Amino acid sequence: MFKFKGYEECFICLLSFMIFYVIWSIFQSNGDITPETQTKNILIWNENQFLRHLYEQYPISKLQCQSNNCLITEKKYYFFSDYQRFDAIIFSFPPHPYPYNLATLDVPDNRSKSQVYIFFTIESAFNVPACELYFDDFFNWTFTSRLDSDIVWKYFVVQNITGHEVAPSVNVNWEVSNEPVSSKVKMNWEHRTKAAAWLVSNCESDNFRNVYVTKLQENLIHFSLKIDVYGHCNNVECPNEDCDSMLSREYYFYLAFENSFSDDYVTEKVLHGYNNYVVPIVFGSSNYTRFLPPGSYINAREYHPYHLAFLINEAMTDHSKYEKYFTWTNSYTIVRSTPKYNDLCSLCDALNSEKAKHAPVYKNLRLWWNKPSGMKWCLSNEFFNETTLENTNTNHLFQLY
Ligand SMILES: *[C@@H]1O[C@H](CO)[C@@H](O)[C@H](O)[C@H]1NC(C)=O
Ligand SMILES: *[C@@H]1O[C@H](CO)[C@@H](O)[C@H](O)[C@H]1NC(C)=O
Ligand SMILES: *[C@@H]1O[C@H](CO)[C@@H](O)[C@H](O)[C@H]1NC(C)=O
Ligand SMILES: *[C@@H]1O[C@H](CO)[C@@H](O)[C@H](O)[C@H]1NC(C)=O
Ligand SMILES: *[C@@H]1O[C@H](CO)[C@@H](O)[C@H](O)[C@H]1NC(C)=O
Repeated sequence: MFKFKGYEECFICLLSFMIFYVIWSIFQSNGDITPETQTKNILIWNENQFLRHLYEQYPISKLQCQSNNCLITEKKYYFFSDYQRFDAIIFSFPPHPYPYNLATLDVPDNRSKSQVYIFFTIESAFNVPACELYFDDFFNWTFTSRLDSDIVWKYFVVQNITGHEVAPSVNVNWEVSNEPVSSKVKMNWEHRTKAAAWLVSNCESDNFRNVYVTKLQENLIHFSLKIDVYGHCNNVECPNEDCDSMLSREYYFYLAFENSFSDDYVTEKVLHGYNNYVVPIVFGSSNYTRFLPPGSYINAREYHPYHLAFLINEAMTDHSKYEKYFTWTNSYTIVRSTPKYNDLCSLCDALNSEKAKHAPVYKNLRLWWNKPSGMKWCLSNEFFNETTLENTNTNHLFQLY
């Protein structure tokens, strides 16, 4: 009897505790839900094929991010068109259809204090400058390939042997291996006979890369070598439309020339080289030590075209020299986005971080993105032609002497 009574009392007190707890948690959830459980909703305001490709290929639930509580959608009506309920809204550039401005883009009427508006582009500042006034005082975060962005868009990542991401990063402690290169890697170049290939679709680019290539061709003649140009500019297709197998089978070098000079703009072009164990020859205005293992590539802008032709010939005739370009394989792998290192993870992690709670707008986004010297990209063609006339002297762009 006594036992039962005690049990009963305890049952009542347990019950009242439970009721109290339920009321307490309902009260709590009106304010703070713990960040781990609360979904972060992200709206992509205007279509971007790269972003879409990324989240279709890797739904956030399949990623191995630190946080996987994000939902990404292009559906504006998701919250019955109440855009203020999204934690972040991504505005992507260049927008479709083109040209447009934020006014015609029909930006949300109201903006909640806890929302983060994101400026997103995978292009270079030269190709997609931010010109109009509305770029200023509007975005809370930047999501670009610039390493000083809030979220960095990575065209590829360099992982060390234990699988940690080491680059791109402003400070990388590159490990230099003196070990010989594995025979598995060397097998790739056994039957190669051709100097270099260039795959190019954008025929005229404003950084005079074609001028450099022409000079390089002229100098390669001295060594009875040449660069084979593929793509619609030259009307030559890769055999079976498979450029990668062709590169891997036949070529010592691959020209990974960027189409414009902008900071931190090293695109996936270099992967045609690394994936196929073909040495990339790069050409851009980034600080490549932040992106790629030293000695694994040649930076054309550091060489007179004659000197580069000499290096190419030397590597082709002396395989011990060529092998040196591959010592990186002892320490690193270079990959495109993976389930673990993914731009969507960076986005989701950032939204779960403290910085999402206080994200002041960029008052001078244009100046940050274009840089002071880049504001001229916004000028009319007429003006641009006049002011850039001096740039047609290419000596300051690379060493032609
Ligand atoms: C935006 O805010 C205005 C003024 O506060 C309000 O009248 C309007 O209903 C809001 N619109 C939406 C879509 O919430
Ligand atoms: C983003 O900027 C807007 C406009 O200044 C501001 O009201 C809002 O609080 C900012 N968002 C965050 C999360 O700080
Ligand atoms: C790989 O990088 C991580 C993080 O920087 C570091 O802790 C680890 O020791 C590195 N592994 C090797 C084999 O160097
Ligand atoms: C390139 O980046 C490295 C690492 O941040 C830095 O030490 C070096 O000074 C930079 N080089 C140039 C030319 O800016
Ligand atoms: C600028 O230069 C280009 C190439 O020389 C030319 O086609 C274009 O008509 C020029 N634009 C103007 C506005 O003069």
